[in-house]
Amino acid sequence: MIKLSPSLLAADFTKLESEIKKIADAGADMLHLDVMDGHLVPNISFGIPVIKSLRKVSDIIFDTHLMISEPHKYVKAFADAGADIITIHIECESDIEATLKEIHALGKKAGLALNPDAELSRILPYKDLIDMVLIMSVYAGFGGQSYIPDVNSKIKEARELFGPDFDIEVDGGIYLDNLNIPVEAGANVIVAGTAVFGSENPAQAVKKFKEF
Ligand code: DX5
Ligand code: ZN
Repeated sequence: MIKLSPSLLAADFTKLESEIKKIADAGADMLHLDVMDGHLVPNISFGIPVIKSLRKVSDIIFDTHLMISEPHKYVKAFADAGADIITIHIECESDIEATLKEIHALGKKAGLALNPDAELSRILPYKDLIDMVLIMSVYAGFGGQSYIPDVNSKIKEARELFGPDFDIEVDGGIYLDNLNIPVEAGANVIVAGTAVFGSENPAQAVKKFKEF
């Protein structure tokens, strides 16, 4: 069974508490929080104070996707705010090894994300320092983009490399009608923003994803 991590980026920001409750009650496994700094990616979203506030109203796993250039400066603040999984990008400017170790020292799970043009071999030096790999199926920065099928081979390669029990998350452009593509390639954690929060009935969308 897949784990579903709906991306809050596509939610109605005027009612975050009730939006989260809808998907948590419907069986979402975690909540994907897309943090963008306008530097690593050409967009700005939300950050630490929002996550801290949301932590007070939900106990769902916070799957925090840091699209920021210098995550080492902020991982403690995100951990303190209530992040459970902290994923940094291989394309960031921080010392990757030191940042992953710090995430673990803070008692959190560490993930490493790769944009579509980054080869899987780039994460090899950090293989034993991560709990999850995040394979971007769109270029990080915006919701509502189309799934890039070229990443399928990278997902397969990751599944062979990490074995059957490792969390391989795929993020971007995933809907009910193409969900089979990343899952058949080997993904077990699916991020969906537009397909869940952008749908008319997010709770029903979560249930349909989970029925896959
Ligand atoms: C893109 C984000 C994704 C995105 C997913 O930078 O990392 O999580 O919001 O949104 P959809 O499902 O709309 O592609
Ligand atoms: Zn994301």
